[in-house]
Amino acid sequence: MLILNKTARVFSNPSKRKIYEYLRSFNFHPGKVFLHKLVLGIETSCDDTAAAVVDETGNVLGEAIHSQTEVHLKTGGIIPPVAQQLHRENIQRIVQEALSVSKVSPSELSAIATTIKPGLALSLGVGLSFSLQLVDKFKKPFIPIHHMEAHALTIRLTNKVEFPFLVLLISGGHCLLALVRGVSDFLLLGKSLDIAPGDMLDKVARRLSLIKHPECSTMSGGKAIEHLAKQGNKLHFDFKPPMQRAKNCDFSFTGLQHIIDKTVMQKEKEEGIEKGQILSSAADIAAAVQHTTACHIAKRTHRAILFCKQKALLSQSNAVLVVSGGVASNLYIRKALEIVANATQCTLLCPPPKLCTDNGIMIAWNGIERLRAGLGILYDTEGIRYEPKCPLGIDISKEVGEAAIKVPRLKMEI
Ligand code: KG4
Ligand code: ZN
Repeated sequence: MLILNKTARVFSNPSKRKIYEYLRSFNFHPGKVFLHKLVLGIETSCDDTAAAVVDETGNVLGEAIHSQTEVHLKTGGIIPPVAQQLHRENIQRIVQEALSVSKVSPSELSAIATTIKPGLALSLGVGLSFSLQLVDKFKKPFIPIHHMEAHALTIRLTNKVEFPFLVLLISGGHCLLALVRGVSDFLLLGKSLDIAPGDMLDKVARRLSLIKHPECSTMSGGKAIEHLAKQGNKLHFDFKPPMQRAKNCDFSFTGLQHIIDKTVMQKEKEEGIEKGQILSSAADIAAAVQHTTACHIAKRTHRAILFCKQKALLSQSNAVLVVSGGVASNLYIRKALEIVANATQCTLLCPPPKLCTDNGIMIAWNGIERLRAGLGILYDTEGIRYEPKCPLGIDISKEVGEAAIKVPRLKMEI
């Protein structure tokens, strides 16, 4: 009825072109009417080949993912040409699967959205060239996606979150704090000056040979650390949080990684074991590194909240802190962030674990957000390139450092 009324209103004085445009906005096809915009999202920026079809209201109609984690675990890290080859082998099947589960044919799509930045050049290239072929074949608009923007906006698919909100993205490749003011309006408050926390945890897990641990052999490094940490005592090692004197919102993890390397070497000597064997103190080291990582991340996030409130960029009493990325699935780190959120009267929100790690749904959803806002929709893809490095938003981290906000000490009883 609602549709009929709407249709009658629009068609009160119809011209052929108007009718056609109206039906197109509904994705009209004989025998089938989709009342919403439909976007196919494609993600290949790192080591997951993923695709999904999402509609305007956030319904996930179909999704598929092929993870390369197992292969890269065996080689001790991502080898870009190997990742590229695996994307090539899987992309057609994954996109096909997402489309067929959704029962949407490519001609019914409103647009195709694909991650084109930042990420591994060889991986991004596979997703982009595959997408451009689809765009060309089905004459669809193309929406280039910034991978971190997609991570940041995912929460708006699962929760009713209005702009502005603060986002902390912590994964294997990224580490940043940003204020999200709109779909493509970000203020970068701080980022890692070296490696990301997931990368550090992966390196520590490798140094501890956790892949040989019977309980951890199929887990990513970060997940293995979280798992083992439950059996360890964090107080047996005292790893100091990095950058304690720097009153900004930047992060650093290589120093911590080197200290742990040294500790592991010393412990191997003490326990009389070779590199590659599992230390009896591995669980204690895992617990201590997880605790120090959590404290470091919590402190920088606490300062970001105080900065945003001081500058009236966030509401004083009901600000939202969103945490996403692979490392956000770590429950210990989440608890540390909950302590910060409680102390600052913020609401902490995390997408479900499946949407925290790389996936096609977040890319399709970012496409929907951009379609709705009318931002970055390309009808001509001439000259479009992938960008392995690409900052997110306007960098105000210097201003954040100059504000030199002192963060009150919180008891991290986790
Ligand atoms: O977001 P993601 O899937 O990929 C990118 O890096 O973009 O994140 C993967 C990272 C890996 O470094 C992995 O070790 C880490 O997230 N990770 C975790 C946990 N699960 C995955 N880190 C800490 N605790 C976890 N439970
Ligand atoms: Zn990611």
